[in-house]
Amino acid sequence: MGAEHGQVWYLPRVQPIVLKGKKMTAIQNRLGRNAELIARAEDIMPGACLGLFQLPSDQAMVIASGSGPYLWDVEGNQYIDYVLGSGPMMLGHAHPAVVEAVQRQVAKGSTFYTLNEPIIELSHQIVDAVPCGEAIKYVSTGTEATFHALRLARAFTEKSTVLKFEGGYHGAHDYALVGAINGLRDGEDRPRSDSAGIPTPVSATVLVSPFNDPDAARRMIAENANELAAVIVEPLQRGIPPARGFLQSLREATRDHGVLLIFDEVVTGFRLAYGGAQEYYGVEPDLATYGKAIGGGYPIAAVCGRRDVLALSDPARRGSDSYAYLGGTLSGNPVAAVAGLATLNEMRRPGVYERLFATGNRLRQGIETLGRDLGIPVQAPGEGPVFQVFFTERPIRNHQDSSAADAALAWQFGLELLDRGLFHTPGAKFYISTVHGELEIARTLEAFEGALRAVKARRA
Ligand SMILES: Cc1ncc(COP(=O)(O)O)c(C=O)c1O
Repeated sequence: MGAEHGQVWYLPRVQPIVLKGKKMTAIQNRLGRNAELIARAEDIMPGACLGLFQLPSDQAMVIASGSGPYLWDVEGNQYIDYVLGSGPMMLGHAHPAVVEAVQRQVAKGSTFYTLNEPIIELSHQIVDAVPCGEAIKYVSTGTEATFHALRLARAFTEKSTVLKFEGGYHGAHDYALVGAINGLRDGEDRPRSDSAGIPTPVSATVLVSPFNDPDAARRMIAENANELAAVIVEPLQRGIPPARGFLQSLREATRDHGVLLIFDEVVTGFRLAYGGAQEYYGVEPDLATYGKAIGGGYPIAAVCGRRDVLALSDPARRGSDSYAYLGGTLSGNPVAAVAGLATLNEMRRPGVYERLFATGNRLRQGIETLGRDLGIPVQAPGEGPVFQVFFTERPIRNHQDSSAADAALAWQFGLELLDRGLFHTPGAKFYISTVHGELEIARTLEAFEGALRAVKARRA
């Protein structure tokens, strides 16, 4: 069963907003089953969380279910979801086309460690959609995809160093967690690792340049050309769009110096356009990494791009110096593949991207207008379906700018949104799904206003 565009298939059980004194709050019951389960998690799960997403204990919740743009916690509180599983749930939760495809596949077997029809079909659909697509290989997470793309680049160029951008996030491996969260300190030319336990010789192979500074990047590429295997970039870095000509200048400098250009499209793939950021910004890299949306909520990720580079992962080369190992137990898993196929099928429907962008832009403009009206310096850079809220007047062009914004205010604002029934990672990105509609936009703008007023009152 496919869901017709615009048809509401989910359950919009909208809770009444309760006025409690002056504070408008939608969420009141988080101290029963939520608190019990969180205490149980705290016993043995450090931080009682799964990764970075961690809320103060009186606001933390355990999610029981999701449908369309909504989530419910174990006490029945309803949230409009702007996390979307950190991006994958672009169609919303439990989309009928995805549920049906997955159920059908699960009944036929879950994983085979070898070729299956859905993964071959998904491969063709991705390669056809992606401008740089000539060949493709799979892993299970975005982290693995960027790790293997960098390895392929090193194998292909026979060089060891990689260049990334300050504040750019490419997952949790040792090469990615350099200059991603901490950035560069003033006057430093070596980036800091973002995690303990990363061997210094590994982080020494990673150079970091400021995002949106084409001259600095060109200089670094030219000066390090003899050691540099690849430049990896999030084309839309977190919520920060590339300045005009920035991606193009990376393309030209890498080509001139025999360096591969990798677009990390784990977020932007099939989200900014069907052909991802390369189509949207009109720049074609050598390799691109995909995750999140291509699995519709199931673990699958890919490295896609030049055939001559991906050819190094052909096991027929095993034993030769050029063989680059790529793969894993669940790579190309058919359940994830059918979820991905169902998702891409929905994304090809006419008007889907227009709607995604229109929804995101209304929310972005809405919060900026509210900020102006209330005298709070707030901006929401991004591209349509993915944006971030910063409290600052300073234009956000790079990590230094976003780090200078008022993070404490962003955190407070995020917690106020949670209290008003918006599920959001305080201080991080908002993701829009194809099923965030008029009702959700209206409620979200109402929550934005309430939260902005609350943080303003607290500051006064
Ligand atoms: C741009 C980008 N690359 C890579 C990753 C890592 O993906 P995963 O969390 O699936 O390992 C992420 C995750 O958020 C991401 O945003």
